[in-house]
Amino acid sequence: MNKFLSAVFIFLAVFIGFNVTAQGGTMANKKALVVYFSRTGEQYSVGNITKGNTAFVAEEIAAQTGADLFEIKLKNDTYPAAYKALTEVALREKKEKARPEIAGGVTNFADYETVFIGTPNWWADMPMAVYTFLESYDFTGKTVAPFVTHEGSGASSIPSKIQKTTGTDVTDALAIAGHTAQNDRAETKKQVSIWLKKTGF
Ligand SMILES: Cc1cc2nc3c(=O)[nH]c(=O)nc-3n(C[C@H](O)[C@H](O)[C@H](O)COP(=O)(O)O)c2cc1C
Repeated sequence: MNKFLSAVFIFLAVFIGFNVTAQGGTMANKKALVVYFSRTGEQYSVGNITKGNTAFVAEEIAAQTGADLFEIKLKNDTYPAAYKALTEVALREKKEKARPEIAGGVTNFADYETVFIGTPNWWADMPMAVYTFLESYDFTGKTVAPFVTHEGSGASSIPSKIQKTTGTDVTDALAIAGHTAQNDRAETKKQVSIWLKKTGF
């Protein structure tokens, strides 16, 4: 091999080697977080529940992606357990643009490259505590993937509200019926899997 070919060969070996290492490093450091809000108590179409509909979807996403989980809980939770009473409180908070304080937080938020945001559809919007969370963190440069449980309205305009609030582009949302998430584990698993593939996870 003449000197020129050797130099080209060494250059290519180093260049390819470097790129493989860099990609491997990026993949290894790819961290994902599932943030969600979900209620127990009396819920539309599913009766009295001890685990919320959105919680089932959140846990399924975490199981399929290896993501960490963070549940948005109110610091001072005075929401009624009865469905109708809760809808009234929720509507009032939406009109007032309330920002209920949330308990705890994500200490290492900057480490996450992907953040899944899960919420029930409340009056074609999110519970106000989800806004409290979204407004408390810097989403710059992150991939934000919304998922919504509902009982007929689908995701409404929740994805664009998340996009506006975080200032980040969002992926296509997963909208799944609350009663499906609550009662049909296999179907939930399937819908989550299809959505994750479609959105490139
Ligand atoms: C306050 C409130 C408002 C709701 N508003 C809507 C709505 O506008 N459209 C809809 O399809 N479902 C609505 N629902 C039903 C919830 O979106 C659905 O039951 C959801 O799966 C609940 O999720 P969770 O169990 O994780 O809290 C509402 C439920 C509540 C409690």
